[in-house]
Amino acid sequence: MQIILCKSTHDVGRRAADIIEARLRQGPTVLGLATGGSPALTYQELIRRHREEGLSFSRVSAFTLDEYAGLPPAHVQSYYSTIRREFVDHVDMPLERLYTPQGDAADLNDEAARYDRAISAAGGVDVQVLGIGTNGHIGFNEPTSSLQSRTRVKMLASRTRADNARFFEDEAEDVPRLCLTQGLGTIGEARQVVLVALGSNKAAAVRAMVEGPISAFCPASALQLHPHATVVLDPAAAADLALADYYREAQELHEQLL
Ligand code: F6R
Repeated sequence: MQIILCKSTHDVGRRAADIIEARLRQGPTVLGLATGGSPALTYQELIRRHREEGLSFSRVSAFTLDEYAGLPPAHVQSYYSTIRREFVDHVDMPLERLYTPQGDAADLNDEAARYDRAISAAGGVDVQVLGIGTNGHIGFNEPTSSLQSRTRVKMLASRTRADNARFFEDEAEDVPRLCLTQGLGTIGEARQVVLVALGSNKAAAVRAMVEGPISAFCPASALQLHPHATVVLDPAAAADLALADYYREAQELHEQLL
């Protein structure tokens, strides 16, 4: 796991965007896209590079990580609408190559299995963007999720519903109870993952992910098994790390050798 300690919150967006841009410059790319607050600066930086520096997304396909069950794609808080509003509609990525699980599918279990197969059929994800929940979830794989899970229907933890109430006029009760989420096994098959975390409310989860045991109790700790995982942190999210000096030194050495 590579840990990048950023000097500022804005730096997190730039560093994560650098990783994505480097992959895009290699050729056609399949991105995995998280929604929520954490990657917003990353998407804003990619949009800026598209507008000001000509970075093209014309050869990109993208799969979102998850979707609320029961919300049709057109719902303002569906992750399909959100990722369009916050990223895809502002770059030159063909909309027909944006894929999300259908939250209003008649059979959610079938839809989850179909979505998992669609990711494989597209050749798998090249770079998966992730955030982390305050309870250590990635995607909506809540604590005690199987480390080998595939895309499936999950029940959201009450903490996640409370955290996401801000997108539903502060009404946790209005946050759907169920979702479709890529599983930890599915996410683990991405060739590269970049997880961004911002703010002091993520510090405990970040420490458990990076320095705790691999445990379904902190689903993000499964990334310790990933051969190419980068964690990009702002100072507040990194505040509880015991080995921060080591990560900083490794980062400096890495930058010198590049
Ligand atoms: C979103 C997702 C979630 C979020 C996490 C953090 O697609 O899968 O895992 O990344 O809940 O949310 P924010 O970034 O809003 O704090």
